Amino acid sequence: MGMTRTIIKSVGGYLPERIMTNDELATMVDTSDEWITERTGIKQRHVAAEGEFTSDLALAAAKIALQRAELDASDIDLVIIGTTTPDLTFPSTACIVQAELGMTHGAAFDLQAACSGFLYGLAIADSFIISGAYKRILVIGAETLTRLMDFKDRNTCILFGDGAGAAIVEAGEGQGEMSDRGVLYSHLRSDGRYRDLLTATGGPSSTKTIGKIHMDGREVFKHGVTNISQAIFTALKETGFSCDDVDWFVPHQANGRILEGVARKVGMAREKVVVTVGQHANTSAASVPLALNDLYESGKLERDQLVLFEAMGGGFTWGSVLARW
Ligand SMILES: CC(C)(COP(=O)(O)OP(=O)(O)OC[C@H]1O[C@@H](n2cnc3c(N)ncnc32)[C@H](O)[C@@H]1OP(=O)(O)O)[C@@H](O)C(=O)NCCC(=O)NCCS
Repeated sequence: MGMTRTIIKSVGGYLPERIMTNDELATMVDTSDEWITERTGIKQRHVAAEGEFTSDLALAAAKIALQRAELDASDIDLVIIGTTTPDLTFPSTACIVQAELGMTHGAAFDLQAACSGFLYGLAIADSFIISGAYKRILVIGAETLTRLMDFKDRNTCILFGDGAGAAIVEAGEGQGEMSDRGVLYSHLRSDGRYRDLLTATGGPSSTKTIGKIHMDGREVFKHGVTNISQAIFTALKETGFSCDDVDWFVPHQANGRILEGVARKVGMAREKVVVTVGQHANTSAASVPLALNDLYESGKLERDQLVLFEAMGGGFTWGSVLARW
């Protein structure tokens, strides 16, 4: 039976110009390129310039996605930005981007799901499109996470970086079959009991400061592998696909070892896993769309291919989205 599907029409990504290598980090804190590479797979991260804000990164990624889709801002109904590092406490970064795009119609909002922000945004956009509320949505993950980093804390400052990724999704016609193009399934989860394991130590209502990232690395690692694997198994079970049917696995880029652990646990062939963590580090909500953007720019992503997205972040939040390109 015919039904509306959410087609991912285009993607764009933006990384700030400045690159900080592991060797540079090792001049600031007691660590080494060897240790960081072995434990995380990270070689470098991008760092936003002074005066370069999350909205600037988001806007740059959005413009690329619009250009690739051959659309302009007047074609967009809604802007959703997943971010943990908004320009301001309010108004939302999405409202700033809406204005910078010259959009005077439609709506815009930020959502806070830490590293799962883009995935949550994609799932929400899918619901809005299926309900008929909006026709074309700009979903962005954008972060300046280095602003939350304590460059004296070697447990956390090695892991994160800045960047933004954007996708334009729009209503398309499907048959209600798993052979349809577009978003076929999404699964969102959270469990706030684990909120202290990965957190920023400040906020407007508590300390009136932004705080610094604090993390229990081992626990986050353990929960990461378990939760992400569960989200993948759920997506496959609910859609009737197996890992062999998936053409590309576009995961949140937290840590190379988490990616390996998950791929092993779910039985995903390594050549299908898009890995950008070495170059981007963990860009939180931006990491999934940036990885998708890398895959797109590689020229390997083909129409009708099955793409499995997953993310996991502070909260904990996690989830998966399965879509046909
Ligand atoms: C952070 C992480 C890389 C640490 O690796 P680990 O193997 O768990 O290491 P541990 O924390 O057990 O620390 C081992 C030792 O290395 C040291 N160490 C920690 N960070 C270090 C660094 N950057 N450089 C050198 N040594 C470091 C520790 O102090 C510890 O030393 P000790 O044995 O003398 O006490 C790992 O736990 C991890 O990746 N966790 C998940 C993080 C993540 O993905 N977060 C975001 C999720 S969205």
